[in-house]
Amino acid sequence: MPLVSLRQVLDEAAKGKYGIGAFNVNNMEQIQAIMEAARETQSPVVVQASRGARSYSQDNYLFHLMIAATELNPEIPIVMHQDHGNSFETCQSAIKLGFTSVMMDGSLKEDGKTPTTFEENVEVTRRVVEYAHERGISVEGEIGVLGGVEDGHGAGGSGLEHLTDPDQAVEFAMRTGVDALAVAIGTSHGAYKFSKKPDGSVLKMDLLIAIHHRLPNTHLVMHGSSSVPQNLQDIVNKYGGHLKQTWGVPVEEIQLGIKNGVRKINVDTDSRLAITGAIRKLLAESPEKFDPRDYLKPAREAMKKIVVQRMREFGQATHSGDYEAIPLSEMAKRYASEMIAK
Ligand code: G3H
Ligand code: 13P
Ligand code: ZN
Repeated sequence: MPLVSLRQVLDEAAKGKYGIGAFNVNNMEQIQAIMEAARETQSPVVVQASRGARSYSQDNYLFHLMIAATELNPEIPIVMHQDHGNSFETCQSAIKLGFTSVMMDGSLKEDGKTPTTFEENVEVTRRVVEYAHERGISVEGEIGVLGGVEDGHGAGGSGLEHLTDPDQAVEFAMRTGVDALAVAIGTSHGAYKFSKKPDGSVLKMDLLIAIHHRLPNTHLVMHGSSSVPQNLQDIVNKYGGHLKQTWGVPVEEIQLGIKNGVRKINVDTDSRLAITGAIRKLLAESPEKFDPRDYLKPAREAMKKIVVQRMREFGQATHSGDYEAIPLSEMAKRYASEMIAK
């Protein structure tokens, strides 16, 4: 199966009432970990790359690794998604490279730090949608601003400063025609999301439910959705790491989100922790080893394990064989004829 559009995969997820994990990658082992997890659980997948990931992998390495993933897993629908595009040009270059979906994060200016005005966000997102849909490519937008900073990207803060306003979400979705909408409901990027054990009300689920009621046909996206499991923190720290005690988003909250319109769930930090813990452990226990395969194999296995778990928890497991790929040219026709509801 060729790379497929995010829109098709999320429409199917909505029909089946499940969520799809969108896992960040930078290198071959991360792509392999996700694909092995998808094969084991029979899951459709979203593999996503940030601007930092594209630059790290020099675009072409990443793209060809993704093509390898489709060749080795012809039965699995795979979306290749640009995470947090910061400008029209970033999204355009991703589409030219072969990404089948882009996020235009117009909630922040091009510097990736300063919040934009609503009108600026609508304008740049609408432009990306026009360009992408003509080519059958899907677009995710963001309204409201997440907390935290990753790789220099993010407004900082706790994630509660710029929550999504439901009225604005409705207007934004109507005026831009995005396929998926990232909402700010109290999550933030990175490992340090919450400084005490979450009590079940850490996220503004009432806000999410209000947005979903107003936009029942828009696929919602939860960024900053790593759960930062205690066991992964413990492994990193046991073998020489220095992570401060922290808490992530409880999986039950994500599952409640999935019942209320969340279809795409972004996870990066949990994979990073799994990989780092495995490498630290191997090198601490076998300091004589120096072949990268000795530590990259357990690292890949550790990431696969957490991804398998999330695929089952989000409900995407067993759904890889549900549908055939819709060619991007057909998606473009559907957008043009407005067969795809906006
Ligand atoms: O949005 C944040 C993702 O975790 C990607 O992070 O920009 O460091 O690659 P990155
Ligand atoms: P985490 O830092 O919680 O993994 O979030 C990743 C993310 O939202 C990528 O866009
Ligand atoms: Zn994000």
